Amino acid sequence: TKLDLELDTIEKGGYDHFMLKEIFEQPKTILDCLRGRLNAENGTIQVSGIENYLDEISKANRIIIIACGTSWHAGLVAEYIIEETCRIPVEVEYASEFRYRNPIIHPGDMIIAISQSGETADTIVAIEKAKEQGAIIMGIVNVVGSSIARISQTGAYTHAGPEIGVASTKAFTGQLAALMLVAFKIAHHKQTITEERYRELCAELALVPGKVEKILEQNDSIKAIAETLKDSSDALFLGRGYNFPIALEGALKLKEISYIHAEGYPAAEMKHGPIALVDEHLPVIFIATKDIYHEKIVSNMQEIKARKGRVIAVINEGDEITPAIADGVITIPEADEIIAPILNVVPLQLLSYHIGIARGCNVDMPRNLAKSVTVE
Ligand code: G6P
Repeated sequence: TKLDLELDTIEKGGYDHFMLKEIFEQPKTILDCLRGRLNAENGTIQVSGIENYLDEISKANRIIIIACGTSWHAGLVAEYIIEETCRIPVEVEYASEFRYRNPIIHPGDMIIAISQSGETADTIVAIEKAKEQGAIIMGIVNVVGSSIARISQTGAYTHAGPEIGVASTKAFTGQLAALMLVAFKIAHHKQTITEERYRELCAELALVPGKVEKILEQNDSIKAIAETLKDSSDALFLGRGYNFPIALEGALKLKEISYIHAEGYPAAEMKHGPIALVDEHLPVIFIATKDIYHEKIVSNMQEIKARKGRVIAVINEGDEITPAIADGVITIPEADEIIAPILNVVPLQLLSYHIGIARGCNVDMPRNLAKSVTVE
């Protein structure tokens, strides 16, 4: 009916789809996650849900991150960040694997459960099992009062607001923001980073919402790149270091939204298999912002070009070398390499959205997928 249609338009806030609305909400939702917690001027982080557990977390011999889907990718980014800054060994496990194995848990081990819905059945069972064995459970959850939030002893809400699109976008960047806050706070408490580095990371984190805003301004040029990719049958996403999980997330998003078969790989691993697929039909999307791997990833691009692959590159403003190699570029404001993944995923979300739309897919409700998987 007309009323239903109008309600639908209001809910989508003037956007054609929830997915696009939620992608564009990210400067605000990331700010909502940081608000009241991060004070960049004074260089302080306060996350009320973890303050009482800081000593126990700092003493943990190891951290196991448990999640599914996109949340699992946030866990992989967190693994790199926590090991680098907090010097605590981290493992990341799919909840569905963890719950059926006989995993080794010692009292005092820390479990971080990451979940948008807080209701994913496999994640719930996995953390209940770990809790019985004496682990401390930290929840990084979006839905307030959800099952995982209630099972957790400590944690931080992502404050991304309701996410309607089945493919997770703003919840993912909310997870990354919350995990960064928690990691930097613990690192500071443990003194595994210097005061100066801590302040630098706080200042960098505060700049994220504004930088995401700048990335979103490229929506039209990303749409133009999407047009050139829409008839592909496969795609490869490559990144290294903090951007390796972003390559996985870029590939997952494309699969979910456009039904194009896509794989994410650490860029250096391409030699061990995926390079066999490269020909003039295969688009290869590189996440290649400035970090210690930059030169190496540029040479990976050259290897793809030499085999006639089509290179799309997510790079930093001011990178003068990559545009000469790539068939399409998306530029990202410069950021500390630890912070970069939260920025770099945004253009990949838009790319998937526009490719999905160009292929006539139902981007808000892809076939066979569910927003929250409450059965095993
Ligand atoms: C489903 C959703 C994904 C989500 C995953 C984990 O597969 O379609 O978007 O990443 O579940 O859900 P959770 O709510 O635990 O983050």
